[in-house]
Amino acid sequence: MSRIVLGVSGGVAAYKAAHLLRAFTEAGHDVRVVPTAGALHFVGAATFEALSGNPVTADVWSDVPEVAHVRIGQNAELVVVAPATADLLARAAAGRADDLLTATLLTASCPVIFVPAMHTEMWLHPATQDNVATLRRRGAVVLPPAVGRLTGPDSGPGRLPEPADIAALASVVLTQGPAALGHDLAGRRVVVSAGGTREPLDPVRYLGNRSSGRQGWALARVAAARGAEVVLVAAGVDAPAPFGVRVVPVGTAEELRTAMLAEAPDADVVVMSAAVADFRPATEAATKLKKGSSTEPTSVALVRNPDVLEELVRKRAPGQLIVGFAAETGDADGDVLAHARAKLARKGCDLLVVNDVSAGQVFGRSDNAVVVLGADGTATEVPLGGKDAVAAGIWAAVTPRLAAPPNG
Ligand code: CTP
Repeated sequence: MSRIVLGVSGGVAAYKAAHLLRAFTEAGHDVRVVPTAGALHFVGAATFEALSGNPVTADVWSDVPEVAHVRIGQNAELVVVAPATADLLARAAAGRADDLLTATLLTASCPVIFVPAMHTEMWLHPATQDNVATLRRRGAVVLPPAVGRLTGPDSGPGRLPEPADIAALASVVLTQGPAALGHDLAGRRVVVSAGGTREPLDPVRYLGNRSSGRQGWALARVAAARGAEVVLVAAGVDAPAPFGVRVVPVGTAEELRTAMLAEAPDADVVVMSAAVADFRPATEAATKLKKGSSTEPTSVALVRNPDVLEELVRKRAPGQLIVGFAAETGDADGDVLAHARAKLARKGCDLLVVNDVSAGQVFGRSDNAVVVLGADGTATEVPLGGKDAVAAGIWAAVTPRLAAPPNG
């Protein structure tokens, strides 16, 4: 449980701050909401007070003996400003202290996350971009806005990411600090596969596996937060796309192969976190297999699926990094890491993210712990944490290995 200040500035997306507040309190955090006067035109103080269980003021003239404009910032362990309007970003970049929220930003020494939301023109304006660069240079996290429907008929970059995405990313900063969401993947293209493939037996049945896709979702979300352009090839998972991520839905291993080969050529990083079925039924019945009928099966013949990771490695673009995943158990032939090293060598990828599934860990769980093995012999342990925290740990191991961009 942490002490979070939720700053809310005056944009229509302020209504989503109520959902974000809910997500924080449900995760056990103690939240103090500090709206601007503009935010209170959109959402009443009573809503924030009821949901946070804490008093809400926007100006520096209330609770004067408490010295609120200093204490709130000093006591915070994380400040999240969502939505952050163009005006709020400008005032924060200029170091103004003309209301309680900006005063709080000046007195907080903890990590700060700004979550911008505004019209596309305002976001793209050089003044705003300069302010964002200034805030990032000073160590704040400024998330890229989501692309989509804005107020009125407009659409484009400027939407507030969904509260669940913001809460997941805030948990990363709480545990690992603001560097975990640095802007170091800007200009990079990342392709992630996630989920589990489904191999049809007949029109209603398939052979599948228990991969939830959550680790792949988190990898895509954290890469987008770090500025990358992200494609998520999603096998058999129907969860909402993380903000800033383009989802390509697939079913079978063969469909996943086609999608990955189409998306990979101009990617800087390819991550194969999907659980790809090694086998598929040799035939797919055109009609439902029925018991007692002439089509009732007595066994299922299987054929091998292609190894997508191996093919991606074979066809890799120059300078491209390829990351594989392996779920391993130790046995008489070797421990988890020995099997994983052998797999890394066999598959030829640059990095292998290893899950120890000996005790039935990982599948469907919300936390995870991995080791990232490098083809150069390195081993980086990413300790037990939420899947977004683990994703940030994996990106921290991957990012330093990226080839320098052509122009830089
Ligand atoms: N993979 C793949 N295509 C397959 C099977 C696996 O691209 N047909 C990828 C997975 O996405 C993962 C990596 O290969 O990144 C390792 O998967 P795993 O199933 O552990 O590898 P296998 O070669 O099938 O090894 P094992 O014999 O241990 O199952």
